[in-house]
Amino acid sequence: MAKNYGVAAIVAALCLVGVVHCVECLTVEGPVYCDTCRVDFPTPLSYDLKGAKVKVECRNKTTNEVTVSIEGATDGFGWYRIPVEGDHEEELCEVSLLDSGDETCSELLEGAVHNARVALTNRNGISHQTARFASSLGYATKEPHANCTKVLLEMGVLPPDFFNN
Ligand SMILES: *[C@@H]1O[C@H](CO)[C@@H](O)[C@H](O)[C@H]1NC(C)=O
Ligand SMILES: *[C@@H]1O[C@H](CO)[C@@H](O)[C@H](O)[C@H]1NC(C)=O
Repeated sequence: MAKNYGVAAIVAALCLVGVVHCVECLTVEGPVYCDTCRVDFPTPLSYDLKGAKVKVECRNKTTNEVTVSIEGATDGFGWYRIPVEGDHEEELCEVSLLDSGDETCSELLEGAVHNARVALTNRNGISHQTARFASSLGYATKEPHANCTKVLLEMGVLPPDFFNN
């Protein structure tokens, strides 16, 4: 009994931090990075995009009606945290990019995915934590960084004979 009370108090405290009246709150979080190699995945040459704007949107699966639409921005570590109230088990929720906040890194790479699905529910029994992590989203620079080939080779992404064909 005392134990449950403690957990409830912690949950209540977490919900109060910076959040206006979040009763049944889940926090959508994730990174936004600058893809300096234009490869659509983070590399050691990538950097965090600070102040990038993103949006969490949920839609009714049958009517496609927007049920949740909340904007947020990344902090100094390129990380956003957006509290969403309620359970959205029957809806499709995803995070999408709105603005990179960095004019040298603001391209949406053609053919890449620019949104990330998140399951905003507590009803599937996966976790009792309130954070819901979205996969990383990125903007790309116009030109690849000079050392990309070297770094991609080091990552084992490019074959060693990349230049010999
Ligand atoms: C989706 O919309 C339909 C029709 O308005 C409604 O009956 C249903 O409850 C909605 N589903 C959710 C999860 O809101
Ligand atoms: C590329 O890597 C070399 C050696 O690691 C480094 O000296 C150089 O400054 C890098 N170039 C750029 C543009 O960062």
